[in-house]
Amino acid sequence: MPEPAEVQRGLQDVVALESRICFIDGRQGRLIYQGYDIRDLAAHSTFEEVAYLLWYGRLPTRSQLAELRTRMGALRTLPEPLVRQIDQMPAECHPMDILRTAVSALALFEPDETKPGASSIGGAQRLTAVFPSILAQFHRRRTGMPPLGARPELSQAAYLIYALLDRDPTDLEARAVDEALILHADHELNASTFAARVTASTLSDLYSSVTSAVGALKGPLHGGAAERVMELLDEIGSVARTEEVVREKLVRHERIMGFGHRVYKVEDPRATILREWSRKLGEAKGDTHYYELLRALETVVHREKGLYPNVDLYSGSIYSLLGIPHDLFTPIFASSRVAGWTAHVLEEYQDLRLIRPMAKYIGAVDLPYIAIDERT
Ligand code: ACO
Repeated sequence: MPEPAEVQRGLQDVVALESRICFIDGRQGRLIYQGYDIRDLAAHSTFEEVAYLLWYGRLPTRSQLAELRTRMGALRTLPEPLVRQIDQMPAECHPMDILRTAVSALALFEPDETKPGASSIGGAQRLTAVFPSILAQFHRRRTGMPPLGARPELSQAAYLIYALLDRDPTDLEARAVDEALILHADHELNASTFAARVTASTLSDLYSSVTSAVGALKGPLHGGAAERVMELLDEIGSVARTEEVVREKLVRHERIMGFGHRVYKVEDPRATILREWSRKLGEAKGDTHYYELLRALETVVHREKGLYPNVDLYSGSIYSLLGIPHDLFTPIFASSRVAGWTAHVLEEYQDLRLIRPMAKYIGAVDLPYIAIDERT
C-alpha cells in the first residue's frame, strides 16, 4: 500500500486553503480582519461594521451601514412554526443544542436559501440576525419572561442584552458586548469555521454549513471554554485558593480553561481587550471579584505552565456582570462568529474544491473472512 505523507495530528501547521478574510500572527499576537487590525476595529467600529467588512471585504460607508442595520433589524423575526418548535424543546437542554437544532430547522422554512448554489449574503445576514432571536425564544420561555419583541432599532449587541435580560442595556454594557462581538466575529480556520468550510466544500448549503459550525463550537476545547472558566472561578472561590486549585488540576493533567492556543504563542490580543472590559465593567458595577480572581489565575497558570490567556478567559466575566447565565456564553459567541462562518462559506463557494484529506491507515489488512458461525 502506498504510504501517505507524515500525519499532522489535529492538522497542526497544515495550510489548507487561501483566504482574504482573516490573518493571525501568532508570534506577534496580532489579529487582522480583511486588512484591519482588531485593535482598531474594537476601538472604533461596531459589530455590524465588522460583519459588513467580513462579508463584502471593505468597510461600509455611513449609508451602507445604516442600510445593513435596517435590513438585519427586519430579519430578526422567526417563522411561526419554528417558534412553536422551540417552545416544545425541553427547557433543561443546553442552549447550544437548541441553537444547533433551530438553525437546522430554520432551513426548512427558507427553502430557497438551502438549494445548492443559492446561498448568498442575504442568507448570511438572515442567519446572523436571527441567532439572538433563537436564543431569546428559548431562554425567555425557560425563565418565564414575556414574549420577545423584534426591536429593529437596536444593534446586535443591544438586542442580545434586551432579548436575554428583558431590559435595555446601559451605554457601557452595550459597548462592552459590542466589542466582545467584534472580537469573536472571525478567527481564520478555527475548528468551527473549518467545519463550516468542509460542509460548504461539498456544495452543500449555507444553513447546513452553519449547523456544522455550531456543533463544532460547542466543544469545551473551542467555544465552550468560557462557560467552564466561570465554573473554575466558582470552584476557586477566593484569590487565596487559586494556586492550590490550579496545582491540583495540573497534577491530574487537567486543562485550565481559557488558557493556551493552537496559533498564538503570546497573549491572544482579544484577551488583552477583554481583560480591560472585565476591569472597567467590574469597577462600574462595584464588583471586581471576577477580575481579581482571573488576574490571580493568569499569574499562577503562567508561572506553572507558561500559558497565556485566550479569548475565552475574560468574556464570561463580562457577561456574568451583566447578569447573563453561564450556559448562554457560547451561544453569544456563536451570535458573533456566525458572521465569520458565513463569510468563509461564501468565500469557499468562490474557489470551491472539495476538502477531503487522507488518513494514514494503521489497521490490519488481508484478514481471512470468518464465517458468522465460526466467530468467537
Ligand atoms: N491547561 C493545561 N495545559 C495545557 C493547556 C491548558 N489550558 N493548553 C495546553 N496545555 C498543555 C498540554 O497539556 C500540552 O502539554 P504536554 O505537551 O505536556 O502534554 C501542551 O500544553 C500542548 O497542548 P496541545 O493540546 O498539544 O496544544 P493545542 O494547540 O492542541 O491546544 C487548546 C490548544 C486546545 C486551545 C489548548 O490550549 C486547551 O485545551 N486549552 C483549554 C481550552 C480552551 O481554553 N479553549 C479555548 C481556545 S480559544 C477558542 O477556541 C475560542
